[in-house]
Amino acid sequence: MIISRYKTYHYIEDLKRYVGQEVTLRGWVYHLTGKGKLQFILMRDGTGICQCVVFKGSVSEETFQSAKSLTQESSLQITGTVREESRAPGGFEIDVKDIKIYQICNNYPITPKEHGDSFLLEHRHLWLRSSQQHAIMRIRAAVVKAIRDFFDGNGFKLMDSPILTPTACEGTSTLFETEYFDLGKAYLSQSGQLYAEASAMALGKVYTFGPTFRAERSKTRKHLTEFWMVEPEMAFFDLNDDMDLAEDLVEYIVQYCLKTCQREFDVLERDTAPLEKVKRPFYRMTYTEAVEWLQKNNIPLIRKIDGKELAEPFPWGEDFGAPQEEAIMEQFDKPCIIHRYPAEVKAFYMKRDPENPKVVLAMDMLAPEKGGEIIGGSQREDDYDALYQRIIENNLPIEAFQWYLDLRKYGSVPHSGFGLGVERTVKWISGAKHIREVIPMPRMIHRIVP
Ligand code: 4AD
Ligand code: MG
Repeated sequence: MIISRYKTYHYIEDLKRYVGQEVTLRGWVYHLTGKGKLQFILMRDGTGICQCVVFKGSVSEETFQSAKSLTQESSLQITGTVREESRAPGGFEIDVKDIKIYQICNNYPITPKEHGDSFLLEHRHLWLRSSQQHAIMRIRAAVVKAIRDFFDGNGFKLMDSPILTPTACEGTSTLFETEYFDLGKAYLSQSGQLYAEASAMALGKVYTFGPTFRAERSKTRKHLTEFWMVEPEMAFFDLNDDMDLAEDLVEYIVQYCLKTCQREFDVLERDTAPLEKVKRPFYRMTYTEAVEWLQKNNIPLIRKIDGKELAEPFPWGEDFGAPQEEAIMEQFDKPCIIHRYPAEVKAFYMKRDPENPKVVLAMDMLAPEKGGEIIGGSQREDDYDALYQRIIENNLPIEAFQWYLDLRKYGSVPHSGFGLGVERTVKWISGAKHIREVIPMPRMIHRIVP
């Protein structure tokens, strides 16, 4: 309940506090049925859905006619008494006394019948009102709150990174480019990490949280061109500390959603039993062990050569794609961290493993139930000369990275961090079938409207 200076607003999610009392709800018509002397208005107000019953005998003729004139998505205010009713959605009903109509809605495009994906995406601005999309958005809000609570409660400081940047961070093939006044080209940030490293040297344990951009050509269920990433960065953390933190975070997020989103999971018919199992410790294996497992289980690498698909035993040194990740995860009921990847397939800033310079101190967390990679992270190269060498080898412009190299010049320390993709995480937890359903306005290779 919010009390303004003028009015008391009631919300559907609070109805249990008002049983037997009169309330005034404002919202929209979700669904209508009625016959004879009874009209049933299924009303939504953003916080939930409630059945409102209009009985001809207990309202004025004008109110009854108003109820009969309503249409799907008409906006209205309803005053009535709250009654417990176990058969009604949400468990409560309103015995309507009065109705005030804001607007009668004509020809709402999204009807209870089935619509195709592209129609729904074109109407994303309206589709958000549907009960499943509504439930997914509430789970997204819970995931974001869990992330913030986790870091704020564990001594991390929020230090946001810029979005306009002069250089690439995660490879040069997925950069969105723009002109930046007289200073040449700027790029939309692929990751806040490099700036988070500077922040960690100033504040110890930090996290950045914001939109990140990848000009991804991939048209998969797991790729957006604009997505949200949270990136903790910790001075003095090694790779093991980094993996422990990633497990703590993911356990916290999942358990928080189980505690607060049961209603949403019910709407989505999401079986939550697999989520109950998401407790530390998760599984861990090295990249090399994962490759041995793929070879033993005949999960090949498939290359496309001249339009033909050729399968070969999975060779050490190749990056995993979705088929390998999903095969590996079939055996696990909790997330699994794969660590120590070949240096060639990972980013320039990752520290080589002192025990095996062919691999870097990197880690990816894969989610079960085909969730795919939800986290990518590493211990960072903290040696000036080694990092300088990597920047040159990767053909990156050394002048633009001078400030980043400074971090290795003035009090360099071991440090680590990771990035968790918000949409990948929400997709996995909610069980949504496509990543475009878990962000309010998805940006993909062929879609920028609405
Ligand atoms: O593995 P990535 O590329 O790692 C980084 O960007 C590091 N700089 C993070 C760090 O160490 N601070 O991306 C991290 C995560 C992925 O695991 C995935 O969850 C998500 O970001 N992600 C995407 N989500 C949606 N669409 C895309 N195109 C994504 N690319 C990455
Ligand atoms: Mg990655």
